Amino acid sequence: MKKITFIGTGYVGLVGGAGISEFGHQVTCVDIDQEKIERLNAGEIPIYEPGLKTLVKKNVNKGRLHFSANISKTIQKSDIVFIAVGTPQGSNGEANLSAVEAVAKTIGENLNGYKIVCTKSTVPIGTGKRIEEIIRSVNPMGDFDYVSNPEFLREGAAVKDFLHPDRVVIGTRTQKAIDLMGEVYRPLYINETPILSTSVETAEMIKYAANAFLSLKISYINEIANLCEFVGADVHDVTRAMGLDGRISSKFLHPGPGYGGSCFPKDTHALAATGQKYGSPLRTIEAAIKTNESQKVRMVEKLSRLMGDSFNGKTIAVLGLAFKPQTDDVREAASRVIVSRLVELGASVHAYDPIAMDNFKNHFPNIKYFDSWQDAVKSADGCIILTEWNEFRGLDLNELKDLMRFPVILDTKNILSIQGLESCGFTFDNVGRKLHQ
Ligand code: UGA
Repeated sequence: MKKITFIGTGYVGLVGGAGISEFGHQVTCVDIDQEKIERLNAGEIPIYEPGLKTLVKKNVNKGRLHFSANISKTIQKSDIVFIAVGTPQGSNGEANLSAVEAVAKTIGENLNGYKIVCTKSTVPIGTGKRIEEIIRSVNPMGDFDYVSNPEFLREGAAVKDFLHPDRVVIGTRTQKAIDLMGEVYRPLYINETPILSTSVETAEMIKYAANAFLSLKISYINEIANLCEFVGADVHDVTRAMGLDGRISSKFLHPGPGYGGSCFPKDTHALAATGQKYGSPLRTIEAAIKTNESQKVRMVEKLSRLMGDSFNGKTIAVLGLAFKPQTDDVREAASRVIVSRLVELGASVHAYDPIAMDNFKNHFPNIKYFDSWQDAVKSADGCIILTEWNEFRGLDLNELKDLMRFPVILDTKNILSIQGLESCGFTFDNVGRKLHQ
């Protein structure tokens, strides 16, 4: 059993801290936000993530998981300190590392014996070295090993992804650190999860290379879907057949309104910026970013066509605001770009999302929000689906048609049956499945 600190109680810190306590270690999650710590200590979970509350509660009750705002004391008592603070995108596309650097300084000031300092946050290649330098500058005699241990969990499936990862990457320079990290992840080792030991820089690169590749895959299939519309092909049949080739795989081949979230948009920009910095540009990633941006705008153009090229004075129902289902996160969501454009073009937006409305209200306080999809679509002139929530997959098309003023719908997630829409008499469109005349 190891004594572990997680600094930062966002997605990665909270899920990681709870997950590692589930592996049997003594974990304390710390944060500079005292109020957040108080809420966590009162049993409140600040993010919506299926299964997280149960996991936290179980491990708190077992006495293995704690929350504290006393960062210095917690670090001093730990064998391993995980850095899991945010690395938001700066104005130049590069990741903003001020939180990571501040944490490195605090760790340096509290190194009272050998510790592992391990970064879980996604940080640009070379940051590990910088963190080591900062720690050494505040504490030249400090005894520690640095580890880069990138996290691959997805929002909405975070608990499952953390407890059953495809792989664990441990980037470090010493065998002692490899062995200690091996102990942290021992239950996974027993489950035969591949545990890869690499250099720090390689581990940092793996995280970006993986996220950027998935982003590229999505932008690629979005462009194929767009072309399908012109040549009369069905992108679902195309991806089904492509995915059967094991070299391609069917995962992350779902077309849509463009990827969002706190990772892909930020990480592709950061990797592209790193490429530019070293004079080794990643042109494929730069293209994927541009494609993704234009895909969001393309959805507005599609809807505009359905609406007779004018939104002025029309009511548009927007179903789904979260960047994907099972989360209340609206960071970089396609809905942000699309709703903003619809409002600009004179539409009155009636929105519904099962759980992301409160977060969306912070950005769009002036659109109208409803407590059910039925209320949002009532008397609407058009409707757009932006998140594939299960309740939209199963919506009754006859009921939808009866509620709307005009049966016009853009299904950007391709979740509604084309046959059903046709037989109900909808004017509709989707992404990559319908011939554009
Ligand atoms: C992503 C990665 O999948 C995780 O492995 C990684 O750990 C995480 O970023 C991170 O770096 O922290 P996440 O952003 O939570 O996870 O969500 P994804 O499920 O990857 O979806 C991202 C976006 O891509 C969503 O907007 C989703 O709708 C879109 N997407 C995904 C598609 O448009 N098509 C697909 O086929 C798959």
